[in-house]
Amino acid sequence: MAPAANSQVVIGLQWGDEGKGKIVDLLSANADVVVRFQGGNNAGHTLVVGGEQTVLHLVPSGALHPGTVCAIGNGVVIDPVVLVGELDELAAQGLVLGAERLLISREAHLILPYHKAIDLARERLRGKGKIGTTGRGIGPAHEDKVGRTGLRMIDLCDENGFRQRLHQSFTEKNRYLRAVLGEGSDDFEPLIEELLACGRRLAPHVCDVSTYLHDTLTAGRRVLFEGAQGVMLDVDFGIYPFVTSSNTGTGAAATGAGVAPKLLNTVIGISKAYTTRVGSGPFPTELHDEMGDRLRTDGAEFGATTGRPRRCGWFDAQVVRKSVRLCGVDFLALTKLDVLSGLERIPVCVGYRIDGREVEGMPVTVGEFDRVEPILEECEGWSEDITGARRLEDLPPQARAYITRIEELVGVPVGIVSVGPGRDQTIFLHDFS
Ligand code: GDP
Ligand code: IMO
Ligand code: MG
Repeated sequence: MAPAANSQVVIGLQWGDEGKGKIVDLLSANADVVVRFQGGNNAGHTLVVGGEQTVLHLVPSGALHPGTVCAIGNGVVIDPVVLVGELDELAAQGLVLGAERLLISREAHLILPYHKAIDLARERLRGKGKIGTTGRGIGPAHEDKVGRTGLRMIDLCDENGFRQRLHQSFTEKNRYLRAVLGEGSDDFEPLIEELLACGRRLAPHVCDVSTYLHDTLTAGRRVLFEGAQGVMLDVDFGIYPFVTSSNTGTGAAATGAGVAPKLLNTVIGISKAYTTRVGSGPFPTELHDEMGDRLRTDGAEFGATTGRPRRCGWFDAQVVRKSVRLCGVDFLALTKLDVLSGLERIPVCVGYRIDGREVEGMPVTVGEFDRVEPILEECEGWSEDITGARRLEDLPPQARAYITRIEELVGVPVGIVSVGPGRDQTIFLHDFS
């Protein structure tokens, strides 16, 4: 089986919210299918089309292109109530995704009410040491999946079997919530009917996504794989335990969509021109001063899922280099360059020192990260508003020099520069069509 030249994978290279929604929406114009392969409704992907904003949590970001099929792969954890709510919201805006336009993997695991209750209870117990999860039940749903006690989309479609298994799970999880987490009992039973109603709504969409994608790719049609979160939140290679519960890199595109790795071609890694993070955990280039506030205000850095203010800091080449290596990134999409306009000098982190000594690569433990001191280099800033730039030549020389410096530091070319949230606020330096 020869590798197909018709797939693209979009991955977030930092701590999420790099602008995956915008870039996937743009690239979807040329895709037959867009598939989400991991994460759940912890994701919030923003699309701005014709000045109108749409935030998607489970529905793939190709949804606004009428000719593009959207698929949710087996690697995604699905809260059926949230998905039905999202479909209803889109329908209210005039976008009805019928069974032929939205495919849902029968193997995808479910997020159920007790997963959310456990997620929230654990965070309360952790107190100051909390992970800062989105509270959507992501971790507990993955625990059940790998613990082989999860329920899947296919189970939701079998009413009697589902009712029985859910009843058992409710009893068991309530016991755990009470005895181990010190919570009161939740009466989950009334939720069964709501879940079953969601199951009936979603059943026409549930199918064999893996075979569909294989057939699509081998027929020479184009598939775009849409990542969620970012590599620094990867359960193996992020800063554990301040991570999400899935693998977020290119490898997950194969396992989470059910396609052979050799069918994956071009990998596009997304990075902001600076860095943000939501939730707790180490963040070496974080700014705790007015400059951090300025980036947050100018970049509108508030979570698309929880509304929490995002922590802001300078671009960290150490982070992006690691993600580029792990994911086999071919091209960088550099977003939010416009937010840096008006700064006299723009520091970028080129490496780390621990206890005064320069270190190779990234530390692994939180303890080491607490001692990291970023090595900053200053780039020259620019004063012009660049939101109207459409070609590289439209950018001031300092902005072009900033892009070149990032390419040098991370070792891959920038293929896309984004200078605003809108579709047209984009400079293509490579032909992705
Ligand atoms: P995602 O989770 O990676 O899809 O990113 P989010 O949607 O959570 O956050 C990115 C935010 O930045 C959204 O509000 C986008 O509309 C916005 N955005 C994307 N690209 C740009 C850009 O180049 N400039 C500006 N100013 N905003 C952008
Ligand atoms: P998108 O796809 C930013 C973060 C949470 C928390 C950690 C674990 O929009 O880029 P979880 O609920 O997954 O157990 O939380 O991961 N997190 C994200 N941060 N963007 C996201 O998604 C995120 N999804 C999870 O804030 O720190
Ligand atoms: Mg987001």
